[in-house]
Amino acid sequence: MSMGKPLPHDSGPLHVTGVARYVDDIPTPAGTLHLAFGLSPVAHGRIRSLDLSAVRNSPGVVGVWSAEDFDHMPDCSPSAEDEPLLATGTVHYVGQQVFLLAAESHLAARKAVKKAKFDIEELPALLTVDQALAANSRFESGPSIWTRGDAAGALAKSPHIVEGRMEVGGQEHFYLEGQVALALPLENGDMLVHASSQHPTEIQHKVAHALHLSMSAVRVEVRRMGGGFGGKESQGNALAVACAIAAARTGRPCKLRYDRDDDMVITGKRHDLAIGYKAGFDDAGKLTGIEFLHLFRCGWSQDLSLPVADRAMLHADNAYWLPHVRIESHRLKTNTQSATAYRGFGGPQGIIGIERVMDHIAHALKKDPLEVRRVNYYRECDVDQGPGHGHRYGGPHSPKAEELQPQTTPYLMPIEDFIGHAMTAKLSETSDYVARREAIREWNKTSPVLKRGIAMVPVKFGISFTLTWLNQAGALVHVYQDGSIRMNHGGTEMGQGLFQKIAQVAAGVFGVDAEMVKITATDTALVPNTSATAASSGADMNGMAVKIACEAIRERMAAHLAEKHQADPAQVRFADGRVQVGGADYSFAEVAAMAYQSRVSLSSTGFYKTPKITWDRVKGQGRPFLYFAYGAAVTEVVIDTLTGENRILRADILHDTGNSLNPAIDIGQVEGAYVQGAGWLTTEELVWNDKGRLTTHAPSTYKIPACSDRPRVFNVALWDRPNREDTVGRSKAVGEPPFNLGISAFLALSDAVAACGDGSVYPHLDAPATAERILMAVKRQRGDV
Ligand code: MTE
Ligand code: MOS
Repeated sequence: MSMGKPLPHDSGPLHVTGVARYVDDIPTPAGTLHLAFGLSPVAHGRIRSLDLSAVRNSPGVVGVWSAEDFDHMPDCSPSAEDEPLLATGTVHYVGQQVFLLAAESHLAARKAVKKAKFDIEELPALLTVDQALAANSRFESGPSIWTRGDAAGALAKSPHIVEGRMEVGGQEHFYLEGQVALALPLENGDMLVHASSQHPTEIQHKVAHALHLSMSAVRVEVRRMGGGFGGKESQGNALAVACAIAAARTGRPCKLRYDRDDDMVITGKRHDLAIGYKAGFDDAGKLTGIEFLHLFRCGWSQDLSLPVADRAMLHADNAYWLPHVRIESHRLKTNTQSATAYRGFGGPQGIIGIERVMDHIAHALKKDPLEVRRVNYYRECDVDQGPGHGHRYGGPHSPKAEELQPQTTPYLMPIEDFIGHAMTAKLSETSDYVARREAIREWNKTSPVLKRGIAMVPVKFGISFTLTWLNQAGALVHVYQDGSIRMNHGGTEMGQGLFQKIAQVAAGVFGVDAEMVKITATDTALVPNTSATAASSGADMNGMAVKIACEAIRERMAAHLAEKHQADPAQVRFADGRVQVGGADYSFAEVAAMAYQSRVSLSSTGFYKTPKITWDRVKGQGRPFLYFAYGAAVTEVVIDTLTGENRILRADILHDTGNSLNPAIDIGQVEGAYVQGAGWLTTEELVWNDKGRLTTHAPSTYKIPACSDRPRVFNVALWDRPNREDTVGRSKAVGEPPFNLGISAFLALSDAVAACGDGSVYPHLDAPATAERILMAVKRQRGDV
């Protein structure tokens, strides 16, 4: 059985030897042109004139295009048709594409693009959420508000209240392979596009629209990305459309690759936001009522901001029962890059709010934050297991009938699969949380300069696209007459190991080794109408589609053999590369050859749609998710109170992957996600100047975690129990949920800061907790500022 084995990533050897082929490595035909965008130097303004004569005369330049060269400006938006390929009259942020040029070489293009002369009348720019709120600049007529119960009434009656506002920074994707596309003009106007995209079908759609072609005339191929992290859901559209337009106009292949600085200046990032909260609670720390305010800075165009901000609302509860709740979410339009998808897709922004509240409550009551978290956890109520089932009440009392009913989320989805109590108990034990917390307190008393902190954070993350129709996937599988298998599906590979996992699923159906399954590029000509590989649903959905396709072929093979041996098809056994029926025993290849010679079809499509989900986003009610993935982390940090410098000393993680499809890959996902999450909240700081120019646009000024920033001690274990929902192999999605565990690093830093001074003040730390912010927080704590 190949499913569930910790096999290495199929491209591992290719990655480390430099042989893995990315778009920029594809050998290009002679005559390929290299493109570059000319970018707006101002955050908001009216273009008076554009002098491109020096650009046109620059050596090697073959074509230059701006708004005046188009009757209809092609659009690059994934949602609202509000992203013209090139600015038409007005510019909306520093870095917006204003003109496009094609040259004989990459260097010639880059030199030429700098020679433009812009005459732009500057207009007032909205850069912050507060400015946008004051100007009522937003993407909807007003805020989205979801409520359950009477939060204001509950707060009025609450014995205790904490209130606060925290700023949470954005995050650059920093995929190692930057944005790139290559378009090859085919006969009769058709177009082939090689893209580095999580969403080949959308590239196909956008290119077809821009060229006034049918989708059937455009083919998009994606072999792999050197990282996507959500940054290649929509941000590659402009490059692909530019290449296709230039290729159509010149008849030559066209390639566009952003330089790193341009990539950071042009493309959208994780949404930064301000979170306001007011929480009422009793003496035990149990929440009575809570209000959240989300102020999302969405940038100049809508992009994916509405579903991202929705997902933040959907995760405002994280693992906690909120009896009376009101969440108000503003999606604000600003003159900055259009914020976009980023691992977690708004979930982390929702979760950090309630986790901050838990710590704030614990501080107010002088309780262990873990205790406060536990009293607020959802009830463990596995409806399949029925009453009296084992550990789930954590105590000897026998539950009353209503305690066996699942609690519901603020959007009224019953929580039927909560495992937070059991996971917390286990992790608390394996990480030695209680004793270490006590030891840290003692240590801090004797350490005047260095202070340690510890925090435990759970995660509950909803799996499915909230736009219901996206929850579909297709596959195409061929078995050749030599028994080799070629697999295609709608998912894309961005390093997450999706192809390997699904190859294992296919191999499992046929009872052969995973190496027998050929992994190929994602191709819109093979599997149509695909969704983005996103929302962590890649393996769940495409894995199922591939399984369904493989089973169809296997059934035909079995029927053929059964007929030949006068046996029941159900008796035909596919295992260990052999196929057995009656007394006969064949190799898989022999069976493929026999089936071929008997004119049995050895090719099949597969189609899957996620069951059970219903969602009304206007009301904010329904079942947007098939299930939840859970996890928990304990992080210990140390800070230097003289400089604010800090280190993660140890992280212990327990993460739920259901029956893991590949534990090696899943542990890699958990480790990477945690470190990326910690990076978001510690060193990764995006800074815009007062003119709206991003000043941190290179690795010299933007600090992602390095190998040396990983926790010194890093214990990661999987909670390896079957998903109660019928997913592929009863596995669970893993890509995004563990990103949220990085929040424990942030709250551990906050805990260390709280150890300074007399401890009476709650450290209102904003994110990212850079050394500078930590130092300021320490000073506030000690009354020095
Ligand atoms: N892991 C790697 N190595 N590179 C990536 O770009 N993207 C993440 C996650 N893990 C990413 C990654 C994001 S944002 C998502 S949604 C999922 O992988 C997508 O893949 P999946 O659905 O196959 O898990
Ligand atoms: Mo992931 S943010 O859903 O691409």
